[in-house]
Amino acid sequence: MASYYEIEGGKPLEGHIRVSGAKNAATKQIVASLLTEEECLLRNVPRIGDTKVTLDICKSVGLQYTWSGYEDLILCTPQITTPEVPVAFSGLNRIPILLLGPLIHRYGKAVIPMLGGCNIGERPVDFHIQALEALGAKVVFEEDRYFAIADQLHGAIIELPFPSVGATENILLSAVMAKGTTFIKNAATEPEIIDLVMMLQKMGAIIYVDVDRTIVIEGVSKLYAAKHTVINDRIEAASFGIAAVITGGNVIVEGAKQAHMLTFLNRLRQVGGGFEILDRGIRFYHPGTSLKPIAIETDVHPGFMTDWQQPFVMLMTQIDGLSVLHETVYENRFGYTDELRRMGAEIQLYKQCLGERPCRFRNRDYEHSCVVKGPTPLQAADITIPDLRAGFSYLIAAAVAKGVSQVRGIQYVERGYSNILEKFQELNANICQRQDDSVKIN
Ligand code: EPZ
Repeated sequence: MASYYEIEGGKPLEGHIRVSGAKNAATKQIVASLLTEEECLLRNVPRIGDTKVTLDICKSVGLQYTWSGYEDLILCTPQITTPEVPVAFSGLNRIPILLLGPLIHRYGKAVIPMLGGCNIGERPVDFHIQALEALGAKVVFEEDRYFAIADQLHGAIIELPFPSVGATENILLSAVMAKGTTFIKNAATEPEIIDLVMMLQKMGAIIYVDVDRTIVIEGVSKLYAAKHTVINDRIEAASFGIAAVITGGNVIVEGAKQAHMLTFLNRLRQVGGGFEILDRGIRFYHPGTSLKPIAIETDVHPGFMTDWQQPFVMLMTQIDGLSVLHETVYENRFGYTDELRRMGAEIQLYKQCLGERPCRFRNRDYEHSCVVKGPTPLQAADITIPDLRAGFSYLIAAAVAKGVSQVRGIQYVERGYSNILEKFQELNANICQRQDDSVKIN
């Protein structure tokens, strides 16, 4: 039986919550542990659906793991028991493709099912496959599965057409034990990638990150046990920051790191949102004066993250004037705005690049820019979450709207945010989880 959240809007969010470890760092680090037969300890791992799926995927090829305390994971893969990730994991998340390198290193071959993840664009894996081939693997796609084989991967010079996060991670995990040196040009350098590099270095890898988006990996023959603490989730931190500002509230997000959120904080300051950097995190608040419109473009790091876009568009609906958002990372990431329009938001989508520079989606028939007219009062509604990051912005929308909203499709938010219901409750939101007609948690 499907459950949903019921939220009565109009209450400022107040108090403090602790941000969890980053999903997009932890899941990759779990995969990295497959590169050694020794034991790795990962701390600050978020207890979310995506972590569970990633653990199940890795377990299917030989990972043994135990939770130690609430957020620490002991990971050990003495032996790869099979190089095949079962087809049952097809469509669940983006992780299986990252197993190609570790499985090839430890077994000589890998069989990976088709990928999944949020439906926010085509999300091809051509960069991953071309990179693996450049490193010496033979890769074939047959019957919805990738078959890769190599006796030994070797170093290569790989220039990515776009600084893809997943492809950069895939090359790191594949080149780290390849014979010789690999150069990734036009690499992604998101903090989650640097965190993966740090874990790999603790395991014995030699990796340089140059200032010009070049990552140099000197292959080593063996990796070892390591202990690592996952960085905190800057997407969750920013989302709660916006939830505080938009509801006229005051929230300390403990563990939010200024260094990972510079661009977000600059944009928040430009619209007039309040924040204060504390030793233990960041306090977000509404300053009491009206907020100013803004034009934002999403970009790869250190630009404005595509995963900050959805809560920021929500904020734009409450800003006085016309704001613009140009999405340049994914071609189809505004589907969630339909439900917001039903609640009263005035959001218009455009196929043009409404930004300082044309992006890859110019003249390609994708609605990848939006203009938001605010402020618009929002009315409660029965809404269904289409993807993970949209999910958080729906929770914010319901927290702002007049009346009681039902937010369905909560498995998406539970996939990526740890204890999300409890965190909103800690901040005094009127939220409960319902299943059919009965209250489950309140
Ligand atoms: C990661 O996705 C994150 N997912 C995404 O977060 C995040 O939005 C994205 O990076 C950008 O920061 C995980 O870490 C699990 P990409 P990823 O490869 O690695 C194109 C969330 O909600 N591309 O950087 O899949 C691609 O289509 C998720 O947590 C190719 O064309 O993103 C996209 O337009 C959503 N060919 C762009 O590059 C390829 O082979 C960026 O994708 C690979 C990518």
